[in-house]
Amino acid sequence: MKYLIETYGCQMNVHDSERMAGLLEQAGYEPTTDDGDADVIVINTCSVRERAEEKLFTRLGEIRQQAIEHGSRPVVAVAGCVAQQEGTAILSRSNAVDVVIGTQNIRRLSMLVESAQSRGAGRGTTIDIEPLDDVSFPLGIARRADPSKAYVTIIEGCNEFCAFCVVPYTRGHERMRPWKAIVDEARQVVDQGAKEIQLLGQIVNHYQAPDDAACDFAALLERLQTIDGLERIRFASPHPRHVTPRMIDAMRNLSKVCRHLHLPVQSGSTRLLGLMRRRYTRESYLELVSSLREAMPDIALSTDMIVGFCGETADDFEATMSLTSAVRYHSMFSFKYSPRPNTLALKRMSDDVSEDEKTRRIVALQSLQKDIQSGLYNEAIGREERVLVDARSRRRAWELSGRTSGNTIVNFEGPPDWIGQIVTVRITAANPNSLRGEAIPGGSCRSK
Ligand code: SF4
Ligand code: F3S
Repeated sequence: MKYLIETYGCQMNVHDSERMAGLLEQAGYEPTTDDGDADVIVINTCSVRERAEEKLFTRLGEIRQQAIEHGSRPVVAVAGCVAQQEGTAILSRSNAVDVVIGTQNIRRLSMLVESAQSRGAGRGTTIDIEPLDDVSFPLGIARRADPSKAYVTIIEGCNEFCAFCVVPYTRGHERMRPWKAIVDEARQVVDQGAKEIQLLGQIVNHYQAPDDAACDFAALLERLQTIDGLERIRFASPHPRHVTPRMIDAMRNLSKVCRHLHLPVQSGSTRLLGLMRRRYTRESYLELVSSLREAMPDIALSTDMIVGFCGETADDFEATMSLTSAVRYHSMFSFKYSPRPNTLALKRMSDDVSEDEKTRRIVALQSLQKDIQSGLYNEAIGREERVLVDARSRRRAWELSGRTSGNTIVNFEGPPDWIGQIVTVRITAANPNSLRGEAIPGGSCRSK
């Protein structure tokens, strides 16, 4: 019996898919990449934007069509944020679904799939979306896609309720994992060959161990730093209002914590940030950026930005542009606002910026960001960077590709047995979205 998992959305979903893959393999299924060969297809969905949500129904239509052509179809499970948000409503748009499983219930996946197998695909749907407070997950089950870098979840859910965001409704309220479970999992993945761990949480820096009052996010980083064999610690995504001086000190002082911070800002206008319920101002965000840069002059910052949120004026958008110029982000994910189910913005605000204006603004913002990025990448030429090699380069098979501590992609020539290793590379050229370099054999450099 074979399974295929298709994943949309964020790193949290990618890691949930790794966990679901492990559960299915434990139940005797083998992975396949061919949907015609799969006995079980799991679609792990994202609802952060309408387009992401629509992909589910397009895909279900394709599976249904294939089933008509072949005369039989696999068991189909819909997981992730659309499953949690829509529940039974999914069945009104598709009859190709056997299991709908919520974000907090994935531990029950193999049991639900087996029960669907036994009754036959297409013979009724099981819906399992009841919220669960338990965030434990059996150690050693997840089938991680990348042996050198491992995701480790530390918090699930979110209590912030930003006006535009579905996540508190799809992932539930904030729940923390015990610090010992986190450290045990990190130790285990390092023993299995991981060099880097990436801590995951909707607001990763709001961590407070439920089993030790002294263990906040900074203390968790300190405890992870002591793991022998672990080289790098990353985390995503922090909330600006929960970045503390203790956290900045830990980032500066702990040699394994990468010099990169994804610091979602969403808008450069204090007025808009208020409407979005972000609970910081443009000024306090810029002060935070200054504190981070004072402590770590080499830190790379990235962000998320929304354009065309309800009530965004030309002046608000100009504030976004000027904040972008002031901060000089190494990278940015920018999106046109679209209303999402259940959110405050959908219920109480008006989506009043025209689609044409949203497009004009996002084109201008992305063009500015491209220029900033190009400037930063050109400034990197001549530097030495420690690069954790991920894989062969996608474009040139004889090249390797990896990431700096600041999370920038670097391509350079080298043998395949460097994959999974940290290599010192001198940067020789800049492309729009990556750097090129040459390895310094036996090199050592002062960057993290
Ligand atoms: Fe969504 Fe805001 Fe929570 Fe982030 S902090 S997950 S944007 S509600
Ligand atoms: Fe999407 Fe859910 Fe992640 S909405 S971005 S998959 S938390």
